[in-house]
This record gives sequence, C-alpha cells and structure tokens, in this order.
Amino acid sequence: MNKENKMKVAILGTGNLGSSILKGLMNSKLRDNIFISATKRKWVEKPFSNANNLQCITDNTLAVTDADVIIFAVQPEQFYSLAKEVKNKIKGKIIISTITGLTLSGMEEVLGKEQKLVRSMPNTAIAVSQSMTCLSYNGNEESIKTAESIFNTLGKTLIIEDELMQAATVLGASGIAFWMRLIRATTQGGIQLGFDAKEAKFIAVQTCLGAASVLQKQPEAHPENEIDKVTTPKGCTIKGLNQMEHKGMSSALIHGLVSSYEMISQIKEKIDS
Ligand SMILES: NC(=O)c1ccc[n+]([C@@H]2O[C@H](COP(=O)([O-])OP(=O)(O)OC[C@H]3O[C@@H](n4cnc5c(N)ncnc54)[C@H](OP(=O)(O)O)[C@@H]3O)[C@@H](O)[C@H]2O)c1
Repeated sequence: MNKENKMKVAILGTGNLGSSILKGLMNSKLRDNIFISATKRKWVEKPFSNANNLQCITDNTLAVTDADVIIFAVQPEQFYSLAKEVKNKIKGKIIISTITGLTLSGMEEVLGKEQKLVRSMPNTAIAVSQSMTCLSYNGNEESIKTAESIFNTLGKTLIIEDELMQAATVLGASGIAFWMRLIRATTQGGIQLGFDAKEAKFIAVQTCLGAASVLQKQPEAHPENEIDKVTTPKGCTIKGLNQMEHKGMSSALIHGLVSSYEMISQIKEKIDS
C-alpha cells in the first residue's frame, strides 16, 4: 500500500486512551485511507503486527515528521516536555489533544496561537467505535472537519465551547466508569436473584443498551416518559425505583459528577501553576 496517498496520523502516547484510539482506527472504515505512526516510550510488543499501514516506534520526532494530523494522548504532566520535543516539526499540521484539563489557550501558549488546534474529549469506548467525543477548536475549519471525520468513524461527536470541556470530561470520559459501575451493580443484583454471573451481565448489558437505544433512536423520547411506560401503579418497578431514590441514587450520581468536576479543577490549577 502506498502511504503517500493516505492521511497520516501520528498518535503520541499509547496508554489506555491512545491504544484505544489506535485499535478503533485500525478497525474503522478509515483503515484503508490512513497511515498511523504510534509512539510509546518503549514498545514491548507490536500490536496489529500484520498491518502495513501502521508503524510502532519510540521516536516521537520521527512519528510527526511526515504526519498530517498529530494526536497527543499523554498525561497532562507529560505534555510539556513532549510538546517541546516535537514543536519544531508540527508547525502547520492539525494538532489534536486528548489531555484532560489542557485548554485551547493553554495549547496555544505552548504550541503557538497560529497552530491548527483541536481539543478532544473521547472515551475508551473508542476502541469499539462507540466513543462520545466532544470537540472544541481555535477557529480553523480544516482542523475541526478533519477531527470530526476521524472521531465520527469512532463513535459520535459534538462540537462544544472550550469552557464546557471540563463538564464533557466528567459526563463523557469519566462517564464510562460510572456506567460500568451501574452495570456491575445491576449484575450483582441479578446474581443475588438467581442468575449466574455471565447471564446476569448479559441481561444487564443488553437492557442498558436497550434503554440507551430507545433514547438515541427516538430523539423526542424522554427518560421520565419511558419510565412511566414501565411503572404500573402499585407495581414492582415503581417500588424498586422509589427504593433506589430513597437510598439517594439520583443524588449520588449528581454528587459524583460534581466531585469529578471539582477534581479536574484541581488538576487544571496544577497545570496552570
Ligand atoms: N483514559 C481515558 O478514558 C481518557 C479519556 C479522555 C481523555 N483522557 C486523557 O488522555 C490522556 C491519556 O490518558 P491515558 O489514560 O491513555 O493515560 P496513560 O494510560 O497514562 O497513557 C499515557 C501514555 O503516554 C506515554 N508517554 C508518556 N510520555 C511520553 C512521551 N514523551 N512520548 C511518548 N509516549 C509517552 C506513556 O508511556 P509510559 O507508560 O512509558 O509512561 C503512556 O503509554 C490523559 O491526558 C488523559 O487525561 C483519557
């Protein structure tokens, strides 16, 4: 395959998220139209070893040199030295950050206002092309269109104001953990009621998917109306649901979201200082 005709994407940092993006891209319909350079400080094993549109390397500078799009997927504290390392090689290219707490103006300060910058907040469901990815950008239309085209193949996207990115981090990125815990908890309940763990998880996952699909496929549908449809007066569902609310279910979720939000504020303060 000729790498010259493809969009060249460099993923800098392939930990949890970077490797999920890599896996998602390698399995997406973009696969035949991109060439990926993925970097890690040390590669132990080359993933997708038969793929001829992927190079796994440890040299960040080499990775970005002929890339069109650069995705930074390192921890906040790792960003500055990495940015310094590659800064001179990424001028004029489309730069996408996934870094929590790093604002567009923070990126501009380090990389330059004139750069085509996109801030993204995906989640790890990107590995199975089901990410919710919020995007903000510093004005360049080519950069946001390219970012959308990448992330739309890996799930759904929403362009938002940069100020909302912290809330998007909690709702969309941390949200994966919150939903996993809810699925785990309902699975545990199912086991107590007599299913084995595999069956209970199967039922919990498909029911969760069903609830989400009802809302996604019928945009006019509202969760409360859908709840009304399954709660018969004096019935078992309303009894269970009200019991959950007496124990603070909605309140616990909202408190959790706000706590995560506040924690990001602390991370941001650290980055800014
Ligand atoms: N995980 C999520 O669901 C999620 C969602 C949205 C946003 N984010 C954000 O995305 C970023 C990455 O998150 P993560 O969970 O993937 O973190 P992670 O698992 O810690 O991965 C970071 C990776 O970057 C590598 N790295 C560090 N410095 C590097 C350098 N100079 N050159 C090349 N690679 C380097 C690390 O390698 P070593 O292991 O050798 O240090 C590691 O593999 C974070 O800023 C996070 O806030 C994460």
